Amino acid sequence: MLADKPRIAVLTSGGDAPGMNAAIRAVVRTAIAAGADAWGIERGFEGLLERSFRPLSLGSVGGVLDRGGTFLATSRSERFATEEGIAEACSILHDGEIDGLVVIGGNGSFRGAQRLHECGIKVVGVPATIDNDVAATDTCIGFDTTLNTICDATSKVRDTASSHERTFVIEVMGRESGMLALYAGLASGADCILVPEVPWRLEDVCSCIARGVSRGKKHTIVIVAEGAGRAFGIAGDLAEACSQHVRAVVLGHIQRGGAPSAFDRILASRMGSAAVKALLSGESGQMTALKSADIVLAPLEKGYGFRHPLRQELYDLAMVLAL
Ligand code: F6P
Repeated sequence: MLADKPRIAVLTSGGDAPGMNAAIRAVVRTAIAAGADAWGIERGFEGLLERSFRPLSLGSVGGVLDRGGTFLATSRSERFATEEGIAEACSILHDGEIDGLVVIGGNGSFRGAQRLHECGIKVVGVPATIDNDVAATDTCIGFDTTLNTICDATSKVRDTASSHERTFVIEVMGRESGMLALYAGLASGADCILVPEVPWRLEDVCSCIARGVSRGKKHTIVIVAEGAGRAFGIAGDLAEACSQHVRAVVLGHIQRGGAPSAFDRILASRMGSAAVKALLSGESGQMTALKSADIVLAPLEKGYGFRHPLRQELYDLAMVLAL
């Protein structure tokens, strides 16, 4: 049974993603509109263990819809991942009379959220990670913005690459998932895409460069996911193996910043609101998911440990279009 004026808390956890603020705003305003109180927990699960709670009003989330990052701050908490940490977090949430918790984050955060659900806390997750590696949802908040950031950077690199007739190896994020590299490669017309899911050989990258050069291409763009290799190492190897002028660019944390795209703002608004409605109707152990055009609920357990398999047809398409 929920209290007359339920308390809904929200935290952001793991790597930040553009659109997290829009999701917090939707949580706060939906909760207040439904007659609940909204509380923010700062610095993710670490802040939860430090009892870093603050009340959030309608006005406290004004002006955040279009801001990157997360104004509640985030963390990757090692303390929380222990048995003692989970038990302590549960008792802090009970003491704080929190009736429902929204966890905005990626797969590591959902693993933690599931543990809280198992100890009796009502929890709903909202997927937000630029890696887009949560299989239960078609898309995570932040992925679209980051793709646009990578495409913008790649266009700029291509200008200088053409001017100097060079090859560039551009490294994007994705330790275990090639989603960002694949989609960015397709969207920016990369000549070669290296992802952790597909083994690759230096000679194949050399042949790809040679093919382009022989048909008069002035530049070659190789996009590599960080989990498939490091740009500087690959650039050095390519320069040696195929006698090309090669440069490396590591886009790094620029990919996580910036104003969220309209797509991410809308996705975050819909998911944040759906999470609160789910909690207020008694749901727990669930996450919001985009399926086709609808926001639905999926078990939190499907939110971690299951990555999207690499879409081979998109990879093949990118390679054909790069010919
Ligand atoms: O948010 C996920 C992610 O962006 C990964 O792609 C990347 O490897 C990692 O975070 C880097 O995170 P940090 O430097 O914050 O530990």
